[in-house]
Amino acid sequence: MFQSEATMELEAIWLLVALQCLKSTQAQLRTGILENTPYMLLDMLKQAADEPQDTRKLLKEYDFIIVGAGTAGCTLANRLTEVPEWKVLLIEAGGPENFLMDLPIVANYLQFTDANWKYKTEPSNKYCLGLHNNQCNFPRGKVIGGSSVLNYMIYTRGHPKDYDTWAAMGNEGWSYQDVLPYFLKSEDIGIPEYAEDTKFHSRGGYLSITYPPYRTPLAEAFVKAGLELGDKYVDYNAESMIGFSYIQSTLNNGTRWSSSRAFLHPIRNRSNFHIKKYSTVTKIIIDPKTKTARGVQFVKNNRQYVVRAKREVIISASSINSPQLLMLSGIGPKKHLEKVGINVIKDLKVGYNLMDHVALGGFTFLVNASVSLLTERILTGNAIGEYLGYHLGPLSIPGGCEAIAFLDVGDNDGYPELELLFQGGSVISDYTIRENFGITQEIWDAVYKPIQNRDSWMVLPMLMRPKSTGRVMLRDNNPFHKPLIYPNYFEHQEDLDVLVAGAKKVVELSKTKAFQKYGSKVHDIPLPPCEKFGFGTDKYFECMMRHFSFTIYHISGTCKMGPKGDPTAVVDPRLRVHGIKGLRVIDVSIFPKIMVGHTNGPVFMVAEKGADMIKQDWGIET
Ligand SMILES: Cc1cc2nc3c(=O)[nH]c(=O)nc-3n(C[C@H](O)[C@H](O)[C@H](O)COP(=O)(O)OP(=O)(O)OC[C@H]3O[C@@H](n4cnc5c(N)ncnc54)[C@H](O)[C@@H]3O)c2cc1C
Ligand SMILES: *[C@@H]1O[C@H](CO)[C@@H](O)[C@H](O)[C@H]1NC(C)=O
Ligand SMILES: *[C@@H]1O[C@H](CO)[C@@H](O)[C@H](O)[C@H]1NC(C)=O
Ligand SMILES: *[C@@H]1O[C@H](CO)[C@@H](O)[C@H](O)[C@H]1NC(C)=O
Repeated sequence: MFQSEATMELEAIWLLVALQCLKSTQAQLRTGILENTPYMLLDMLKQAADEPQDTRKLLKEYDFIIVGAGTAGCTLANRLTEVPEWKVLLIEAGGPENFLMDLPIVANYLQFTDANWKYKTEPSNKYCLGLHNNQCNFPRGKVIGGSSVLNYMIYTRGHPKDYDTWAAMGNEGWSYQDVLPYFLKSEDIGIPEYAEDTKFHSRGGYLSITYPPYRTPLAEAFVKAGLELGDKYVDYNAESMIGFSYIQSTLNNGTRWSSSRAFLHPIRNRSNFHIKKYSTVTKIIIDPKTKTARGVQFVKNNRQYVVRAKREVIISASSINSPQLLMLSGIGPKKHLEKVGINVIKDLKVGYNLMDHVALGGFTFLVNASVSLLTERILTGNAIGEYLGYHLGPLSIPGGCEAIAFLDVGDNDGYPELELLFQGGSVISDYTIRENFGITQEIWDAVYKPIQNRDSWMVLPMLMRPKSTGRVMLRDNNPFHKPLIYPNYFEHQEDLDVLVAGAKKVVELSKTKAFQKYGSKVHDIPLPPCEKFGFGTDKYFECMMRHFSFTIYHISGTCKMGPKGDPTAVVDPRLRVHGIKGLRVIDVSIFPKIMVGHTNGPVFMVAEKGADMIKQDWGIET
């Protein structure tokens, strides 16, 4: 009851924001300040219209069927249709991307729309305790572009050791040296000083990477604070990650550069490419005798369709839906499938190995100057006009994320355990943020209500190399029922220790000259359930972690890649499902171990490499 009321309220707010945008622009127009705005608006709408149109005449058979038009699916659709004689169908459960989704600052609003699957974890007594019903929200994109449309546009690749570890786990061809060319293949670097570093960056790919055109003085303070404490400024996508940096983002001229904008728009005219939107794949059709994938079954407008695949079916439905679809189709843990009444075709560890980057949420610092990203202050006619006219100003900041630090808080081996994600605002800066995570009213009133509308900043200390892993399971055999999700955060004490070290580092940063220029002060009203430990003690931070366990949305690993003979592997190092012919999984769920940083960049890489492997396996030169 409460949940759905809150959601309706938020959808109303989202609409109001959109209207407010348009109204202010109109007001500006009336005063004649921004004569060119209508053209700019039209231009943005036209961009949305550049999305490939839904295919009217579905063929009975395609060479390849790709399930899910997200980060991986869009990339694959582009690369596979480069082969003119291959007919490719891309099937997506969600609808088209719209121009409001391009506006970087409103990223957190998109979670309240139908572009989100709106998953929740099962209630826990160990984590997410300060969130509605002890459940963590797990948003996932349900729209052309997938989660790259909901995401915060942070572009990172991971540490070389991440991929060398993948290779050491038996995944031939996945070492850092092997994967770096695929990062470079996609990239179009728009940061002038990095464009010269051709070892680690490249120009001319589909994926535009830039700095956001605007930053708050607080972001500068964060980077300066790091230098003051003796850390370095680094390009975290180059030689060494350790240090402080402004965020490199998937932005093109101040607008979101989703996987669809990057990879699908340019191929809208390819005659060998078909796409179906609002179409949910409910089953992979597998011949139980030959164990070969023959096609898929999907539902659109309550009608069921079957379409055949001549060569391969590729699952790119991401870390929750890919394992769900495999299990619904009879590929998964035998006992579990039998329990929910599904015929087992292949017994594999589908749904295990769920990994995420969890962060300490809500850690807020107050300042005494008007320098933060308060929504009320930045959603003015001026800022909207500046954005619509020139793609500049505070609305071009990706959901408030501005700077990042990767830190080695363990054994000084140059391999970070911790990320600090800096935001030029906090949970109090915008009404919706508390609902993104679902902070309970009780805690909100006690801790944050007293400081509402103040200027503030926040750092999310994030666990980079979690020891704890979780699992996705079917609720039942109905493809339209949401699966059960158990992230199992903090099964290992070491995971908490890293975050406690992170929280202390943030306190240290707040005391530097750079942050004291703005009178930064930790907001020290304790969370009522943690008050007994004394604000700021190790035990306090551990308690805060268990209450405000914020996902950073990097859910991965649930269809693990591993060689033949690895009993935990679902796909082999060429991303083929073990024991099934004509079926691959290519998306974030194949990560055998989660990398350091944010997952979107690595998923583009996985898809680029996957596309090349498919071409090689069918005798096409790459
Ligand atoms: C709110 C949020 C913020 C994030 N912020 C960042 C960030 O700043 N930086 C970063 O690097 N990463 C970020 N991420 C993570 C990153 O975006 C994802 O890891 C990445 O997009 C995953 O790519 P994918 O191809 O695996 O899946 P997705 O991009 O999620 O695509 C899967 C697609 O499959 C579709 N689908 C699923 N099931 C079916 C079905 N049965 N039938 C048809 N279609 C189906 C879905 O609707 C979706 O469009 C964020 C994610 C979220 C949700
Ligand atoms: C697609 O075709 C239309 C009409 O011929 C053309 O205007 C448009 O530029 C083409 N788009 C791309 C991306 O090639
Ligand atoms: C960026 O977008 C603005 C607003 O639409 C436009 O005026 C400008 O020319 C664009 N710049 C580039 C380099 O494309
Ligand atoms: C903010 O606090 C700092 C440090 O206490 C002080 O130097 C500065 O003058 C204050 N600024 C304002 C606007 O009060």
